[in-house]
Formats: sequence, structure tokens, C-alpha cells
Amino acid sequence: MPPRELESVARSLVAEGKGILAADESSPTIEKRFKGIGLASTEENRRAYRELLFTTLGVSEFISGVILFDETIRQNAKDGTPFPQVLAKQGIVPGIKVDTGAKPLPWFPEEKITEGLDGLRERLSEYRKMGARFAKWRAVIAIGDGIPTACCLKGNAHALARYAALCQEADLVPIVEPEVLMDGPHAIERCEEVTTAALTLVFSELLEHRVALEGTLLKPNMVLSGKECPKQANAAEVAGATVRTLRRTVPSAVPGIVFLSGGQSPEQATLNLSAMNALGRHPWELSFSYGRALQDPVLKAWKGAPANVPAAQRAFYHRSRCNSAARFGKYTKEMEVTAA
Ligand code: 13P
Repeated sequence: MPPRELESVARSLVAEGKGILAADESSPTIEKRFKGIGLASTEENRRAYRELLFTTLGVSEFISGVILFDETIRQNAKDGTPFPQVLAKQGIVPGIKVDTGAKPLPWFPEEKITEGLDGLRERLSEYRKMGARFAKWRAVIAIGDGIPTACCLKGNAHALARYAALCQEADLVPIVEPEVLMDGPHAIERCEEVTTAALTLVFSELLEHRVALEGTLLKPNMVLSGKECPKQANAAEVAGATVRTLRRTVPSAVPGIVFLSGGQSPEQATLNLSAMNALGRHPWELSFSYGRALQDPVLKAWKGAPANVPAAQRAFYHRSRCNSAARFGKYTKEMEVTAA
């Protein structure tokens, strides 16, 4: 794909009022999510759950793209239509997670390096033929005593750039995800410092690898207080610190920034995004690529029972609509009450 087409796919993923559903839970992760509702993680349960999400009427008004897992991109709806086509028919762009997971970084206890570069060129070409138009790779950065180390930051940034270059070669828009975790007792200032360091290295590597930023999306964490920090920053503080960090590190050639939710409650993730967009215009679109923050209420409503599918789809529609409002800085807590 010429760079201009990559750019147009990237721009469509952050179209006005729209964001991405991350439904690319790996097998161990979806097993954990299903355990939370007392459901066995069988292939049919995973398929039925994804069908529920992908066939929710009307969500294409709010959802521009969906990130799939390797198993899911090969599955079909009940009527035999492959999932990538189920999405594409509604104008939703299919995407694919292509890393093979964050593994322990040898000699650096508590730190991880994301794997998946070997054979990636061939896998990307297969996914492109199956209908994927964008991809995702997640690096994980933990905050703690003496960490992250320079080795962890550099190794992950380098792998992200290698992945992004291979994606563009294969006509796929790379979503570059360096996630600074919210676990720990650190203050928001420490999260800002680490996020600044991580993003600075990532963009330096992307440029070195000749990645076209116009055809790339960034998926970062928000700048937050650590989960166990006694003083929790409010939405205005999170929005201020996050936008400041991004302005300092993310070139304006990047069309959009799609946040991960990272363990925030669904309402908090929506509120924080809305607060950022309410600050005014930014050099890039500020949007969402949420997993848990879009899906937690859906899983709770569904519980694996076919009779609960309509209620689960209503929950998905509602959270998608709230996050769409947050794209305009117009989400209010009253939206939750009127839907309840
Ligand atoms: P969360 O929004 O649940 O953090 O998931 C987003 C994601 O895709 C992580 O890789």
C-alpha cells in the first residue's frame, strides 16, 4: 500500500467520534476474563462471545476498528461468515494482534520484553490476505525500585520499531503500544517521567527504522497515579499530565493516539478521555482502543447465557456511545444514569 493509503486507514481508525475495540485477548487472558463470570474458556464460548460483540446493532457509529486474536480472525459467525467480513460489512476495520507476548527479560527481574519478530513478515502477509488492515504489538513497562531499566526501555522500543516497519512493508497500519503499567504505589509524577522516557525512545527508534509516522497510530497508557498510591489524581490532573507528556514526545505527523484502559474502571477511562478532549484541539486525534473498559460490563451482563445476549449487547452499545461522547469532550456521568 502506498504511504497515502496507510495514512487513510490510520485516519479512518480515528475518525470523528469513533474509536477501537480491543478484542484480542490471548487464550490465557480470555480464560481469566471468563473465569470472572464462572464460564469455561471453550472455543465455542470464545466464538459466541466475539459474535455477540461484532454483531451489536448500531455500534459502527462509535467503533471504527476491532483488534482480533489469531484464533478469532479464523473464526466465523453462526451463519458461516468469517469474522473479518462480519466487521468489514459494517464499515468496521479488522485488525490483528501480532506479538506473541511479553516474556521475562533475562537478568532483569520484574522486567519484560515482547517477543514475536521471528517469522513476522510471513504472518503479516497471511493476515493481510485474511482482511486485516492494521496490527497491534504491546510492550510492557513496569514501574518499581530501580525499574524500568534503560535495557528494558531500549529493547522494547527497538522491537516496536522493527514490528512497525514490517507492518508498513506488508500494507498494514501498525499500532505501537508501549504500556507503562499502573501497578504500584508511585505518584503520578513518576508515571509521567517513565512515560516520557518510553515515548521518547519509541519515536527515536521509529524514525531510525524509517517508519512513516503518518501511517502509524500510538496506543499509550494515560499518565495516572499508581494503583496503590494513597493520593489518586483526578480526571483534570490526569488529562493535564497526559496531554503535556504527549505534546513533549509525540510528533504531530502521527494522526491519532488511541489509549489503552489498563485496569481503570470503565467510567474512569471514559471520564479521563473526555477531560483530555475538553481541553481543546490537539495536534493528533485523542481516542480509545479499550479492552476491559469496553468489555467488563458486557461480560457481567452476558455470563455465557444465550438469553442474556440482548442485555450484553445493550451494555456494549452503551459503553461505546459514552466513549464516543468522550471523543468530543462531552461525556457526563448523567449518561450512565439515563442508561441504567
Ligand atoms: P485494556 O484496555 O484492557 O488495557 O486492553 C487494551 C489492550 O489492547 C492491551 O493490549
